[in-house]
Amino acid sequence: MTDQPKAKRPRKRWKRILTWSVAVILVALLVWFEIAYWTSTNDCGYTSAPTYPMKAIINCDYGLSHLKLENIEKPVPNNDQVLVKVHAASVNPYDWHFIEGTPKIIRLMGAGLRKPKDPRVGVDFAGTVEAVGKNVTNFKPGDEVFGGRGGAFAEYVCPRANRAVVLKPANVTFEQAASVNIAGITALQAIRDKGKVEPGQKVLINGASGGVGTFAVQIAKSFGADVTGVCSARNAELVRSLGADHIIDYAKEDFTKGEQRYDVILDNVANHSLSECRRVLTPKGKYVMIGGGGANEQGFLGVIRSMNKEMVLSPFINQQMGMMMADMNQKDLTTLADMMQTGKLKPVIDRTYKLDQVPDAIRYVEEGHARGKVIIAVE
Ligand SMILES: NC(=O)c1ccc[n+]([C@@H]2O[C@H](COP(=O)([O-])OP(=O)(O)OC[C@H]3O[C@@H](n4cnc5c(N)ncnc54)[C@H](OP(=O)(O)O)[C@@H]3O)[C@@H](O)[C@H]2O)c1
Repeated sequence: MTDQPKAKRPRKRWKRILTWSVAVILVALLVWFEIAYWTSTNDCGYTSAPTYPMKAIINCDYGLSHLKLENIEKPVPNNDQVLVKVHAASVNPYDWHFIEGTPKIIRLMGAGLRKPKDPRVGVDFAGTVEAVGKNVTNFKPGDEVFGGRGGAFAEYVCPRANRAVVLKPANVTFEQAASVNIAGITALQAIRDKGKVEPGQKVLINGASGGVGTFAVQIAKSFGADVTGVCSARNAELVRSLGADHIIDYAKEDFTKGEQRYDVILDNVANHSLSECRRVLTPKGKYVMIGGGGANEQGFLGVIRSMNKEMVLSPFINQQMGMMMADMNQKDLTTLADMMQTGKLKPVIDRTYKLDQVPDAIRYVEEGHARGKVIIAVE
């Protein structure tokens, strides 16, 4: 009888320790968050007159209205970098994610809690090598190149010579080359690595007329697939001209309700639930979520929200439901350069803006109806 209260006491003590531990961890996290939030800064506050100025678009605070064209210090290549004079850059939804700081989770993941950590914007570029670091052997001044490097909405960038930068084929303009990096690599990796597309397979591309979609239609075709492009009526001819065998006008028909089954679905729009998409996959089909959602629809998690039960179940079912994150690298850029050189891939350019019009260009891409790629002409 006397044992009973004794047995309860240690349990109570553990419960108290656990409660206090959780409370202390929560308070510590809150304090860390507050300190990180209020000390989160960028170098916008330290702008003194640059010694060797160059024009660049910078973003000192989250929000499109904070973009400015400024004179900042021209970068100097380190031993492993090349200095590229940018002739053209291109806009991706990636840019507005970081300009707007949305979905909010990217702020926690290193973009900067209160302000963008890196005020420079833009990634995709094409231009001419002006100088090389002392360890660089694969490029020389005068080479025409394209690729990706943060801060591309500027007169100069310094990519690492062994990362996302390659020689531009002679038959491709700087504007075309500048459009390739993010959208082209994403399309290539989605089709080749995630979709593992084989000749004769049925591939559906939702959002076939945008940046990623226009590359994806051509790449899927070059892999020998039977391609269905989902787009609006105004883009049907464009998508057909890129090689799509079938067009679905999303305003008239919901591809997830049709009878056709697809071996691979590439989703650039994410406007259907994964179970709806799964319904139109073949028994061993693959669904590749690339992205989706407008600038005002991202919330805290963006498309990560879609990681619902289908993705969790994916290892236990024959169909594969997955998201992808493109990896910028030299090998895949070389593959894309070769495809352009041999005429298998032709970038689609919608509009061209000047460097001081970057906010207008971003606003246009944020609307979600770009036809292919939007270019920034830097000269
Ligand atoms: N995971 C990654 O590594 C990765 C890499 C690159 C991009 N992304 C993401 O992938 C998505 C697509 O990128 P993007 O560069 O292709 O974007 P984008 O160029 O802005 O795409 C715009 C296109 O989407 C089409 N569209 C809009 N609503 C549609 C609908 N309901 N059905 C079908 N098409 C529709 C538009 O066609 P209409 O004008 O005819 O409506 C337009 O052509 C973005 O969310 C981006 O953030 C992810």
